[in-house]
Amino acid sequence: MWLYKFLLYLACNNIYYAAVSGEPTPPDADYYIGAVVEFPARTITAAASTEERLQQFGELLESSAIRPDIVVFPEDVLNDRDTPIVVPAPSDDVITCNADEAHYNYIISRMSCYARSLGIYVLINVVEVHNCTQTQNVSDLVANCAIYNANVVFDRHGVVVSRYRKYNLIGSEWLYFNYTSQPEEEAIFHTDFNVTFGHFTRMDLLYARPAQALVQRGITDFLHPSKWQSELPFLTAVQLHQSWSFSNNVNLLVAGTNDPSNGRSGTGIYAGKYGVLIATMTSVEKQSKLHLSVIPKHNASSEKVLKIFKLSQSNRKAQPNNSSQSVLDRFTGVVVARNNDIDLYVTQPLIGRTNMSGPLQQQLCHNDLCCNFYIEMHANPLANATTLSYYYRLAAFRGMGTFLNTEPDELAVCAIFACTGDHLYTCGRIYEEGVSVVPRYIFDTIRISGNFTRQRPCLLSPTSVDNLLMPLPVDEFEWQLQAHSNFTLANLTLLQPRSDLLTFGIYGNYFLDDTIYDHHHKDDASSLSSTMLLLLFLLNLQFYL
Ligand SMILES: *[C@@H]1O[C@H](CO)[C@@H](O)[C@H](O)[C@H]1NC(C)=O
Ligand SMILES: *[C@@H]1O[C@H](CO)[C@@H](O)[C@H](O)[C@H]1NC(C)=O
Ligand SMILES: *[C@@H]1O[C@H](CO)[C@@H](O)[C@H](O)[C@H]1NC(C)=O
Ligand SMILES: *[C@@H]1O[C@H](CO)[C@@H](O)[C@H](O)[C@H]1NC(C)=O
Ligand SMILES: *[C@@H]1O[C@H](CO)[C@@H](O)[C@H](O)[C@H]1NC(C)=O
Ligand SMILES: *[C@@H]1O[C@H](CO)[C@@H](O)[C@H](O)[C@H]1NC(C)=O
Ligand SMILES: *[C@@H]1O[C@H](CO)[C@@H](O)[C@H](O)[C@H]1NC(C)=O
Ligand SMILES: *[C@@H]1O[C@H](CO)[C@@H](O)[C@H](O)[C@H]1NC(C)=O
Ligand SMILES: *[C@@H]1O[C@H](CO)[C@@H](O)[C@H](O)[C@H]1NC(C)=O
Ligand SMILES: *[C@@H]1O[C@H](CO)[C@@H](O)[C@H](O)[C@H]1NC(C)=O
Ligand SMILES: *[C@@H]1O[C@H](CO)[C@@H](O)[C@H](O)[C@H]1NC(C)=O
Ligand SMILES: *[C@@H]1O[C@H](CO)[C@@H](O)[C@H](O)[C@H]1NC(C)=O
Repeated sequence: MWLYKFLLYLACNNIYYAAVSGEPTPPDADYYIGAVVEFPARTITAAASTEERLQQFGELLESSAIRPDIVVFPEDVLNDRDTPIVVPAPSDDVITCNADEAHYNYIISRMSCYARSLGIYVLINVVEVHNCTQTQNVSDLVANCAIYNANVVFDRHGVVVSRYRKYNLIGSEWLYFNYTSQPEEEAIFHTDFNVTFGHFTRMDLLYARPAQALVQRGITDFLHPSKWQSELPFLTAVQLHQSWSFSNNVNLLVAGTNDPSNGRSGTGIYAGKYGVLIATMTSVEKQSKLHLSVIPKHNASSEKVLKIFKLSQSNRKAQPNNSSQSVLDRFTGVVVARNNDIDLYVTQPLIGRTNMSGPLQQQLCHNDLCCNFYIEMHANPLANATTLSYYYRLAAFRGMGTFLNTEPDELAVCAIFACTGDHLYTCGRIYEEGVSVVPRYIFDTIRISGNFTRQRPCLLSPTSVDNLLMPLPVDEFEWQLQAHSNFTLANLTLLQPRSDLLTFGIYGNYFLDDTIYDHHHKDDASSLSSTMLLLLFLLNLQFYL
């Protein structure tokens, strides 16, 4: 809807013609046209389906009526670690379109041709084997050389201009993959439309290197192939992506692999403080789709461009009615994991007092973090004794936690989250598909503030997710950071009444890299044992709760 408006705007400014005729966006424009592709996960052995998938890549690119400047494909959909390919180095400066099979794998030659014939930048993610010897035999390379999860970027001429080898691996990837030693240097490239991009993959989003380091270097636009596994209460895909883009105030283009029965889905384009331009989660295993948006350059000066973006935000969806809310619209099509660390949080149930006169004010502290909650709410007249509702808990946490229940990290959190019952173990879960949920309360105002230790690097973000597994539009909350001598006061306020929230709060990531916990030194006995201890500790606590 808003894209249509934007195109009207472009038409009025005589740019529309250029966009549909496939002219590249000029370097002095306030915007560029970006696209992200959602694509199903591999189901059969990679070798058998790679050819077919490349064909589909081509069809998706050619099907777009508007020619984007840059397209991002998702993670791990082409080949696997049994069929790795050699990727040319950007310094080789070769056009690999129609290259001899003996020199470059057909993935590299075919994608180069697509990029050249359509005149677009294209990013794909592949399993790469480093050509570390002179052999032409890939089996020899696999036996002797490093294997990477790699992003490969082709420019409009079909030249590989960037090759980034994923730095932050997860789980069993540590057994099979190597990682780059110079993540920031590999992850940057320049374009002819005068945008410098950074790019990284999946888990990288949660770490200081390279993502946060690139932001600090002034990179404002990021490409992110992923196959994100959503986790409640804080790390569902679109929730995390908006939160990261918003708090860093950078553009983020996310292409997601669809495998909803394993919790994987989530594709979108996010424009920093302007929020979501496109965001989607799907329950359809086989869904493949190209999503396209005009993206404002970071320092877009044109008031008109910015105005349209604000319009797109406020028109996004009808506001829920303050006075009453019947059965909630819910999205249950992705199997969402629960973060078991919340069992370690200091929490308190949000009790609906019978008369609800006046706001609820509450402080919860954990270690050196104190969270202040101020909540105004009223009972939903449409809820009754027979309807099912979410329960809520206020929570504070400051300490060692994990992402996706496997990767340790230092976190600080002030939040309110939904539970399906009275007990903490029911939090971070949602009701099954088909259950009619009628909210018991309507939140008129929620204000959460916390005093977060000042420490570098650190990313404090507002986080929110509703029953559609979408974050709140950025104009429905207010976010303030105030620096004090040794802490940062973060302040998050809900501006519109809502009754469909699963999570609302402040999520602070203190990034473990460069500490004894750096997961790149797993073979270091001391850090390994501290991880093990932490896991044992978690198991114990869960057992007793
Ligand atoms: C490219 O962007 C830079 C700022 O990032 C700006 O100073 C420069 O003028 C731009 N170049 C063109 C050709 O517009
Ligand atoms: C590895 O590099 C050498 C020398 O550049 C080349 O002759 C050989 O074909 C490459 N091997 C593969 C499998 O691409
Ligand atoms: C490649 O090397 C492997 C083992 O070294 C061998 O079995 C295979 O036949 C070789 N393939 C080619 C095409 O030379
Ligand atoms: C790649 O990773 C494997 C498995 O962890 C390891 O044995 C090998 O030494 C690594 N190779 C390089 C070049 O780092
Ligand atoms: C954007 O503008 C701000 C101030 O207006 C400036 O500090 C910053 O360097 C600019 N960023 C870029 C990438 O040009
Ligand atoms: C919201 O409430 C107003 C009255 O306060 C009513 O006129 C309107 O129809 C309601 N909207 C919805 C979508 O229920
Ligand atoms: C919503 O309605 C309730 C009564 O139904 C009222 O107390 C509250 O102030 C209203 N909130 C807003 C923001 O209009
Ligand atoms: C409402 O409840 C609070 C405590 O839960 C009590 O102090 C207050 O007197 C009650 N107000 C009314 C009007 O019943
Ligand atoms: C309770 O509310 C639901 C949904 O609003 C409604 O369908 C049901 O008839 C109500 N039951 C009673 C006993 O009021
Ligand atoms: C936050 O506030 C609490 C209570 O006032 C205090 O004990 C704690 O030291 C503060 N934390 C920081 C990081 O300043
Ligand atoms: C913060 O600084 C104040 C004085 O500047 C000091 O009293 C307080 O203990 C410090 N708090 C922490 C958590 O370091
Ligand atoms: C948080 O923001 C609200 C609204 O802007 C303001 O009223 C409140 O005083 C702030 N709280 C703190 C602790 O700064």
